[in-house]
Amino acid sequence: MLNVIGGSASTYLAYKISRVGQFPIIPIESKVFPDGERYVRVLGDVEGKRIALIQSMYRNPDSYLIEFIFISRTLKELGAKEVIGVIPYFPYARQDTRFNPGEAVSLDIVSRLIEESNVDKVITVDMHLHRYSSIKEVFRIPAENISAVDEIARYLANNYKLESPVIIGPDEESEQWAKRAASVLECDYDVLEKRRISAEEVEIVPRKVSVKGRDVVIVDDIISTGGTMAEAIKMLLKQGARRVIGACTHAILAGNALERIYRAGAHDVIATDTVPSPISVVSVAELLAKTLREHD
Ligand code: R5P
Repeated sequence: MLNVIGGSASTYLAYKISRVGQFPIIPIESKVFPDGERYVRVLGDVEGKRIALIQSMYRNPDSYLIEFIFISRTLKELGAKEVIGVIPYFPYARQDTRFNPGEAVSLDIVSRLIEESNVDKVITVDMHLHRYSSIKEVFRIPAENISAVDEIARYLANNYKLESPVIIGPDEESEQWAKRAASVLECDYDVLEKRRISAEEVEIVPRKVSVKGRDVVIVDDIISTGGTMAEAIKMLLKQGARRVIGACTHAILAGNALERIYRAGAHDVIATDTVPSPISVVSVAELLAKTLREHD
């Protein structure tokens, strides 16, 4: 029987996973001393137990990462049989190469740190894998990247009366998510591409489909500053879209991202609860509980 522990980034999500999956929850105490150092204490017997440690590493990734490492290593020292690190939002994935001389390849360093935390397995949700074709290339321990796009698409189907819908990915990379959402909603999908009109002018349009008079859903993995989503919304409305809804897995929402997106003309914008936010209306608890049950 698997037990669940929530790090302080994902306390609520861990409770939801424990309820949905009927996994007992083991509480922890975690605090930061006045000097900024982290203190962690496991408040239960973990000897011989299998534990899923849930910690999404958003907005304050360094602090959540160190807490994760403290908990995970302590669990193993206390005799836990297995620790599955569930990291719904995996940070630093976009710095997966040295773009400029001298830069740290953050993803590589963070994945090594996670391995050193003594977890036996890693589970992530819609990890931003750009230069890697699989999460198995990122980690030297077993790892699985699951997608929340089906849940997002089902939410869209149940909550919006979409007229002549089309799913749009804002770039090549997002085609995988656009395609998957379109198969659930049984509609068209496409991705945006830049077309040069003249030396001075470029337009950003879908590769093949027309959005005129149609309800458009833009699907992406992350909304960070909201720039990608806001630009895409403006372009699609200019091209005659009836309504544009933004949807993503991870609502990082840095600064005024949400305001930017609504100001661009979004009809609505939704996300999952991998990152808690005002738009996190789709829960990944069921999906993660199901995945953990498969590992049980
Ligand atoms: C980029 O490749 C990602 O898939 C997202 O499109 C990007 O990270 C979104 O960032 P922002 O909200 O800052 O435009």
